[in-house]
Amino acid sequence: MLAGLIPQAACSDSDKPADLEPITVYKSPTCGCCSQWVRHLQDNGFEVEAIDQQNMNSIKSEAGITRQLASCHTAIISGYVIEGHVPAVDIKRLLKERPNVAGLTVPGMPMGSPGMEGSRQDSYDVLTFSRKGETTVFSRY
Ligand code: CU
Ligand code: CU
Repeated sequence: MLAGLIPQAACSDSDKPADLEPITVYKSPTCGCCSQWVRHLQDNGFEVEAIDQQNMNSIKSEAGITRQLASCHTAIISGYVIEGHVPAVDIKRLLKERPNVAGLTVPGMPMGSPGMEGSRQDSYDVLTFSRKGETTVFSRY
């Protein structure tokens, strides 16, 4: 359903783990927390293609991310949209369960989420969302 957003030949590495597809991350070139989240994914076995993007708004509207659902970076894996600082474990669970949703989001940028580590640990929810903007709680931290 999001085929247009998936780059052709996103990755040609042959020795990646067979059970984990590469993830494409669209991010602002100047955002440090995005790079930290990319590192979190890599630390958890993901193969990441990071694409610096000046106009994140067009990426987000194409991916069906409303203002309420939005965070900094937008990623695509296996036809799902991953918005914001979603923990790697939730992405792995999504790929295993394959629910009929557009993707996962952690709206905003909660302190203490992967890539947003700091002095404070806020509680936050990982939400599923549909193309119509319906959400459900996928996990809570
Ligand atoms: Cu961020
Ligand atoms: Cu980011």
